[in-house]
Amino acid sequence: MTSRKSVYVTRAIPSETIEELRAHFDVEVNPEDRALSRDELKERLRGRDAAITLLTDTIDGEVLDAAGPQLRVVANYAVGFNNFDLAAATRRGVVLTNTPGVLDDATATHTMTLLLATARRIAESDAFVRQGRWQGWAPMTFVGLDVDRQTLGIAGLGRIGRNVARKARGFDMNIIYADMHRDADFEAETGARHVDKQTLLRESDFLTLHVPLLPETHHYIGADELRAMKKTAVLINASRGPVVDEAALVEALKAGEIWGAGLDVFEDEPALAPGLAELPNVVVVPHIASATPQTRLAMGRIAATNIIDVLHGRAPGTCVNP
Ligand code: DGY
Repeated sequence: MTSRKSVYVTRAIPSETIEELRAHFDVEVNPEDRALSRDELKERLRGRDAAITLLTDTIDGEVLDAAGPQLRVVANYAVGFNNFDLAAATRRGVVLTNTPGVLDDATATHTMTLLLATARRIAESDAFVRQGRWQGWAPMTFVGLDVDRQTLGIAGLGRIGRNVARKARGFDMNIIYADMHRDADFEAETGARHVDKQTLLRESDFLTLHVPLLPETHHYIGADELRAMKKTAVLINASRGPVVDEAALVEALKAGEIWGAGLDVFEDEPALAPGLAELPNVVVVPHIASATPQTRLAMGRIAATNIIDVLHGRAPGTCVNP
């Protein structure tokens, strides 16, 4: 009798996913609701055939070596995979996978939520009411920004960027986008205009970031870019924190170089850049863009299917190895 393969899951995910895996393999889940340290990760992956990991787990050559040569597949429970050293895994014959497609609606809806909440000063006004400071209706209380018919700039026209554009059309927003590729069909559908980065910065009333984190997109928005934006502009980031130079953003917000920011992600999560949390014109939430029940289940289904496929000798649906 052959022994069952062993799968480690680095943090609690929907029980349906664990059950699906348990039908095939021995499965162990990190019992604590916290990210594993690097040493713990190396220790827990030792001898495993597969793992489900999170964006907080750095999977590089050292971790893969600690796991051992039997490790076949690491399935990230995320669409982003900047926590993976792709070359190190490929050299060791380890398949890496992600969960594309199933987070687009949740993430795009969350992007619009951040945009609306920042523009209409929802976090500030909520705190004001809770603190018992509201004295009654007044015409000039918490006057925010118009959203309808304003220009939405999209940096990075992947699945999520496109989804945001479609939702923004419901507010009659004019769409401009910067991307390496021009998409004539998308332009015909949404009326969007392809622009260069400088035009995107100059013309956007709301600028939303949907680029992956790569060496080329690290600090895609820094001090110079913030200075190039309108003083009335709002920056939205639900991609990856290091795409924005957060210290420069704090300075720009303090100096009134832009009007506000809605942030789901941060450079050094869970820490925030000094001064950021004290600013009234930012909305900050803890990396929850994809946090809906259907999305979490769907992410689990993809990760589990990828592991089942690889350990049964089949090609996985969403491999990210080069
Ligand atoms: C992702 O999937 O990359 C998100 O950031 C977390 O769900």
